[in-house]
Amino acid sequence: MSQDILLDKTITVDRALGECFAYVADFARVQEWDPGVSRAIRLTEGPPGVGSEYRVVMKAGLSLHYTVVAFETSSRILMTVQSSAFTADEEILFEPAPEGTRIRYIARFRPGLLLGIATRCSPRMMESVGKSAMRGLRAALQDTYTAPSNADRHALGDRLILPGMIRFTRFGYDSARKRWKPVSARLDGKHVLVTGATSGIGLAAAHALASMGAELTLVGRDAGKLSAAVAEISAGSGNSHVHAETADLALMSDVHALAQRLLVQGKPIDALINNAGALFNPRQLTAEGLEKSFALLLLGPYILTERLQPLLAAAGKSRVVNVLSGGMYTQRIRVRDLQSSRGTYSGSVAYARAKRGLMILTEEWARRWRSAGITVNAMHPGWADTPGVESSLPAFRRLTRPVLRTPEQGADTVVWLAAATEAAQVDGQFWLDREPHPSHISAKTRESPEDRAALLAALAGLMADTQAAGQESPPRARKPRN
Ligand SMILES: NC(=O)c1ccc[n+]([C@@H]2O[C@H](COP(=O)([O-])OP(=O)(O)OC[C@H]3O[C@@H](n4cnc5c(N)ncnc54)[C@H](OP(=O)(O)O)[C@@H]3O)[C@@H](O)[C@H]2O)c1
Repeated sequence: MSQDILLDKTITVDRALGECFAYVADFARVQEWDPGVSRAIRLTEGPPGVGSEYRVVMKAGLSLHYTVVAFETSSRILMTVQSSAFTADEEILFEPAPEGTRIRYIARFRPGLLLGIATRCSPRMMESVGKSAMRGLRAALQDTYTAPSNADRHALGDRLILPGMIRFTRFGYDSARKRWKPVSARLDGKHVLVTGATSGIGLAAAHALASMGAELTLVGRDAGKLSAAVAEISAGSGNSHVHAETADLALMSDVHALAQRLLVQGKPIDALINNAGALFNPRQLTAEGLEKSFALLLLGPYILTERLQPLLAAAGKSRVVNVLSGGMYTQRIRVRDLQSSRGTYSGSVAYARAKRGLMILTEEWARRWRSAGITVNAMHPGWADTPGVESSLPAFRRLTRPVLRTPEQGADTVVWLAAATEAAQVDGQFWLDREPHPSHISAKTRESPEDRAALLAALAGLMADTQAAGQESPPRARKPRN
């Protein structure tokens, strides 16, 4: 009969008690801080609490089943652990300390035969496993990481078609993940606006941000889908600060009206996520006479972000995350044909050019708004299996489905850019899997300074025109210039 093994370790961290508790309580994140863990999955729905269950796969291959049996907010979590090698009770206690928070981890392991033999041969084995987990937790909560900043590191891989494309798949995600640092930042009291939050990447990002405590404003064009998203996110995260705003972001009258409503409400915005998007084939015009890819993917985010700038500035430190696509690597901006009216129309080309335009805006806004405390970045989600991909690229999806990312994996860098402490250190960059990548992989896609200035002038002109049109009646009757 093997003897029980007892572990009792305490750390103290310079961090508020509530933040420490919330981070540890979200136990699926144990993989971020315990170096012995390869993967952790939440098996139950809803916010963490009594009855929450997790599967934790150790790097050594062992699979552990955790069940929360006691949960006292900001003070205590007790879990039972079942596995083929041992059973255990693990208790984590939290209390205020002069330096911040004291966290005590007490575990009683009841080893089976094999672990019993292993620990008799190596009596300090469990001790060192516990020690390294607590060291990892302290580092995660200290949160003093620096953001990766060298985009050129990836330039060659991005230029080579096959390695570049493999990075977009779930294999790219799995490989990058190994280099990531924990994100223990909390967003309680922060207001985050997510466009296109009713589906795919936007919905997944909203879920994650709500779990981190953010107050959310979800923007969508379908009121029914929006209220379903609000209910789903609130129930899943236990966060009741989730609001909805209806707007068709391909219609500039709706974009202006949305911006106006938010400005009147006056609530500072800590993060704006320009995510709404779609790919249009064949060429379509909106009721306002604008080509749809240009309207939804470039002019809409431009007007929304420009008009919300005062609310971003009012937050003190805020962030803008623009969701782009690797497709932009193939295109240069065409300032004289922003609405793809010349030559043969291709939805993918119009999409890629609009995303290229939003990359240019990312660089411009980052430079112009840095002094106002606004950090602006762009990202590529990789290839994620979302309703958008299913409806607009069915053949691509059939071919690539086994290697596509989940929406949550596609949303990861959105969440990291919006939340991670170190992500505020860099701006104006194009990110994939929490690492900066070059915004061009070919000199052919680089715009001239004249093109850049012309793009900004055209967008500003259209913003003024569409705003003026909205002040006349009827708001959608006038066709804007360009
Ligand atoms: N999935 C990928 O592999 C991938 C790759 C590269 C880039 N992206 C980018 O990621 C973003 C999200 O795409 P996704 O794959 O998650 O697609 P998705 O599942 O179709 O989600 C798109 C979201 O945008 C919203 N939307 C579309 N048109 C709108 C409009 N006119 N007004 C307001 N909202 C509108 C959709 O609303 P409804 O629910 O009402 O349709 C939905 O919430 C897009 O910007 C896309 O370009 C995705």
